[in-house]
Amino acid sequence: MSVVLRLAAVLVGSALCVLNNSTVVGTTKCPGYRTSKVVERGSEIFAQLTLNGAPCNMFSKDIKDLSLHVTFHNSRLRVKIVDSAKQHWEVPQSLMSPDPSYNPTDPAISLLKFSYSENPFTFCVSRKDTGEVIFDTHSHRLVFEEQYLELTSSLPADANIYGIGEVIGRFRRDPKNTIQGMWARDDASPEYENIYGDQPLYIELREGKAHGVHILNSFGMDVLLKDQTVSYKTLGGVLDFSFFAGPTPARVMDQYTATFGRPHQIPYWALGFHQCKYGYKSIGEVAGVVANYSLASIPLETMWTDIEYMDMFKDFTLDPINYPLDKVQAFIKKLHANNQHYILIVDPAIARNDSYPAYLDGLKKDVFIKNPDGSNYVGQVWPGYTVFPDWFAPNTQQWWTQHIATFMNDVPIDGLWIDMNEPSSFCTGSCGSNRTGIPPYPWKDPNYNPDVPQDFPEPNYAIHNYYGNLSAKTAPTNARHFGGVTEFQAHNLYGHMEAIATRSSLIEINPAKRPFVLGRSTFTGSGAYEGHWLGDNHSKWSQLIDSIAGVLSMQMFGIPFVGADICGFSDDTTEELCLRWMQLGSLYPFSRNHNGLDSIPQEPYLWPSVAEASRKALRTRYQLLPFMYTLLEHSHLTGAPVWNALAFEFLDQKNLLSVDRQFLLGRSVLVSPVLEKGASTVNAIFPPGTWFDYHTFKSVEGPKTVMLDAPTDGHMPLHVRGGHILPLQGSALTVAEARRTPFHLIVAFDPITSKSEGELYVDDGESLHVGPNYSSIKFSADAYTISSRGHFGYHSTPEIKNITLLGLPCSHPLMQRHGSTVMLSITTTTSKTKQMIPATITATKDAAFPIISLENIKLPLNGPFTLQL
Ligand code: NOJ
Repeated sequence: MSVVLRLAAVLVGSALCVLNNSTVVGTTKCPGYRTSKVVERGSEIFAQLTLNGAPCNMFSKDIKDLSLHVTFHNSRLRVKIVDSAKQHWEVPQSLMSPDPSYNPTDPAISLLKFSYSENPFTFCVSRKDTGEVIFDTHSHRLVFEEQYLELTSSLPADANIYGIGEVIGRFRRDPKNTIQGMWARDDASPEYENIYGDQPLYIELREGKAHGVHILNSFGMDVLLKDQTVSYKTLGGVLDFSFFAGPTPARVMDQYTATFGRPHQIPYWALGFHQCKYGYKSIGEVAGVVANYSLASIPLETMWTDIEYMDMFKDFTLDPINYPLDKVQAFIKKLHANNQHYILIVDPAIARNDSYPAYLDGLKKDVFIKNPDGSNYVGQVWPGYTVFPDWFAPNTQQWWTQHIATFMNDVPIDGLWIDMNEPSSFCTGSCGSNRTGIPPYPWKDPNYNPDVPQDFPEPNYAIHNYYGNLSAKTAPTNARHFGGVTEFQAHNLYGHMEAIATRSSLIEINPAKRPFVLGRSTFTGSGAYEGHWLGDNHSKWSQLIDSIAGVLSMQMFGIPFVGADICGFSDDTTEELCLRWMQLGSLYPFSRNHNGLDSIPQEPYLWPSVAEASRKALRTRYQLLPFMYTLLEHSHLTGAPVWNALAFEFLDQKNLLSVDRQFLLGRSVLVSPVLEKGASTVNAIFPPGTWFDYHTFKSVEGPKTVMLDAPTDGHMPLHVRGGHILPLQGSALTVAEARRTPFHLIVAFDPITSKSEGELYVDDGESLHVGPNYSSIKFSADAYTISSRGHFGYHSTPEIKNITLLGLPCSHPLMQRHGSTVMLSITTTTSKTKQMIPATITATKDAAFPIISLENIKLPLNGPFTLQL
């Protein structure tokens, strides 16, 4: 049976594709297209679309003939519409890192169905099993012009839409009033405006199911939610939509990352705590910060230095006075000896300076972005007038690798922080080809205006770019990349391409090790190459709150390793804000305190209260490292979120749809941070199930809302979900030390089933190609047995020393053994027969459930075991 339904034929008497009775809205004066020459072949459908009347030429010229190409995949449907006569700019496939097994499939197997109407051409995407329509353009005409493409789908009233970033604001987007501009832009955290990255994916929740919609197009665009519609208005290119069937958000993320790139594996150490500030004046000051962390007994894994380490802000150089080579080398040596790490920033902007090797070599190799006349495009960044690498040019990768390698040969850093890669520049467009030297920063000198008069090609449709002019504070739209690609076409790809190049350089320099790259401007698929921080936030309570939605959204976009600047970047923090931010930030997947140039210092040891709160919070983080590393591995394999929205996990709970002040770690730990000034309690929502306080093990039965105590000298509330097993280790001042401590399992039973499950992934934490040398262990427990099975290829894992059992009935036999040492029977692969191991039992009766601890046991993690309780 054909899975393609001609809408005209099936609309009569059918609700298919009719979500409401909306008439054609928006662009009624445009004629739309009519369909002909439909060919269904295997997993594909081809058709011709022809302009159906006089062109409306709304913002540029209507294109007369289009080609439709639909491809079925198992849980994804791709709908691509292109100009039949001419190739328009498309995102090169080489910039995505897809899973090759994600192949087209027979439409009969696909979870999604494609239907269309012939005249005018409109289409619907629906679920094959239920018939539910997830995308429906039937009330809206397609517009396809040289510089303006528009496609609109109907949405249900008050739709639950998440994503369409990068953006600061609430996690659930306002379905009635969202105008999201997409044009990479350097700006410090304005709510709902376009900022650093371009992430045009949304996930919609409808009646307990999730689906995803993504458009692959690097031109500037607007995505609008209003009048029960979602509209895409792009400045050119092609329409290349992917629809993901879900039906859960985690499945959408799996399908999305299978298509556009799985998140990369991070080095284990990157999960430790990081410290940075813009403006550490010397390597002595940097070393002092490391020493102060140690004195305060606060874990510090990685020290960072911002642009001040450079000589006049030139990449790949050291300031000879404040960061002299010998002192920097001695500092790094000491850090490494202590299992700590060092990361430096690099910006893409390269100073125009005739004695600067990276610049001169770049000129020779012709690696810089060009003006339309073929001269090098010149902007202004920290070092003054600069040129910018063109990642499309054939020699750029080799040039970039060579300069990183030469620098790292002297300065053996552990990763690179790639900033300012929208690309950011202080002029509107070009600063003029002839300028050299170091002008003032425009915001510091009111008499200095870097802009030179220019004629920028601006499209007729003005997307919602907060700076207005698309060339403002970046390369001009008419700048040229290799092969005639314009900045207008590829602007949104700049940071993504720098990440690809940088990762590739680091791999070439050290082929065995996982690279560490943290980047600012991201695009679809960037998570395969880099982690991300949320950019220049402010030391404000509202931005502490916003950071949760920011981290949650990045999970959807396949960039799980993400965090905000802890304690805030711009403005001065306060003791209380910094304390609460250290608590929340201690659970960011990427956990870094970073501070602005002119802000007061905010290292956590500076206030005794913040130091104490940080010790507590980071102790918990370090205990949770095996669990977090396992979550990141899941993400790497399936795109699963490390931070997970409550709405995405409890799909039938309508009251959770807008919750973005709490979140889950994976599926197992509920986090309820304090986010308000002066507060010492949190009004925490508990979803259905039994939840055990991570610190006291006291239980809460959901669904309910509970006022939790969370004084500044206490712990941030964390609750383990009944039915889940958490693998923990001990805390320490470094990740390496923490990894040597024995394991502790919290086995939180679901009291109804008396069952619990969990996972642990371990490897050496640094190899790029792990091969079989990893362990991927599944734990499962019922009231009388705990067992482990899986792949056991990594043999340096410490043993399990303690197990805490929560949620068992008071009648459990172990309750009678409180205070005694009992012999528990265990079967392992090494001893196929049963062995008895001693365990000291502590059993406390909580109000609802007992807490039973098995202490000083020795359970191996290098092979399966079964433990009888
Ligand atoms: C902008 C970045 O967002 C910020 O984190 C950094 O400190 C400054 N550039 C200076 O490099």
